[in-house]
Amino acid sequence: MKVALFSCRNYDRQFFERMNTAHQITYIENPLNPQTVPLAAGSEAVCVFVNDHLDRPTLEALAGLGVRLVALRCAGFNNVDLAAATELNMRVVRVPAYSPHAVAEHAVALLLTLNRKIHRAYNRIRENNFSLEGLLGFDLYGKTIGVIGTGKIGAVFAQIMLGFGCRVIAFDQYENEDLKTAGVGYTDLPTLLRSSDVISLHCPLTPETHHLIDAEALAQTKPGVMLLNTSRGALVDTKAVIRALKTGHLGALALDVYELEENVFFHDLSGQALEDDLLARLMTFPNVLITSHQGFFTHEALEQITRTTLNSITAFEREHSAIPAECVVV
Ligand code: NAI
Repeated sequence: MKVALFSCRNYDRQFFERMNTAHQITYIENPLNPQTVPLAAGSEAVCVFVNDHLDRPTLEALAGLGVRLVALRCAGFNNVDLAAATELNMRVVRVPAYSPHAVAEHAVALLLTLNRKIHRAYNRIRENNFSLEGLLGFDLYGKTIGVIGTGKIGAVFAQIMLGFGCRVIAFDQYENEDLKTAGVGYTDLPTLLRSSDVISLHCPLTPETHHLIDAEALAQTKPGVMLLNTSRGALVDTKAVIRALKTGHLGALALDVYELEENVFFHDLSGQALEDDLLARLMTFPNVLITSHQGFFTHEALEQITRTTLNSITAFEREHSAIPAECVVV
């Protein structure tokens, strides 16, 4: 099948070239949007990533070119207008689980770095500054960790935190019985916000979860709380967290995702002025740690993303119904 693969980076190309034996893939560096749709001409499928826009105009233009399949190289599908895709009779597939461990372990890396100020120590030591001033952290043992969303990633994160000897509480509409047996206590959102020393977000972005962490939610949290977001940027109201960081109420913030990440993350902008003032402001805080949506970025995850995507494309080409149900979005 002819496939136009958008938002392609070197690593995507390496993995797809190594594992693809059946399809004719065109690798396109540009993101998919109404301006770049013509690059999909001649393809029956587009393969896209988190910051590609599959809104109605884009989907209509793709359908006009004969594209019948949208293959997401990610789990989240908040960037696709599913109603439009259904009306246009387009199939949308995703990679439901590639490595929950990759993202959960990255969240733990952010937590440990921020708590023990490894990011500051690293720079300091390289300047021959061996002082400990300002590097004081806290024992994770015995602290309360609040996990919002205990699906695949949240569950792994919760298990790791239990291993540190933390008290883990969680909020989700669906309670995971294995986690409960392991010692996780489910609670409501206000209680989680009120009781947690660290809050980690692992729920999807939906209209309901947009700005889940806003000024009102932050006001309910413990003074000095640490917030981790490795899920989707718009779960957090960036202006509200900046205000909470300025007052000191928010003790530390780690973001692997950012609500305005689209034109920044995954790009090397090192020779340019950063146009995003909110992001620039966030980077002035010593207790803010930002990574560029790299939670998924492990060998194991990339291999699984590539394998699942290629399998779905092959299954679609042979017989639509053969696509594994968990990969089908619509
Ligand atoms: P999942 O679908 O297995 O779990 C999501 C959980 O969130 C479910 O248990 C669901 O019931 C719960 N949930 C839904 N709405 C909620 C709400 N309003 N409040 C509390 N819980 C709610 O998804 P998975 O695989 O664990 O991924 C979680 C999120 O992580 C994805 O939606 C995606 O946005 C993000 N992600 C980030 C990556 C990165 O590189 N940083 C990579 C992969 C996923």
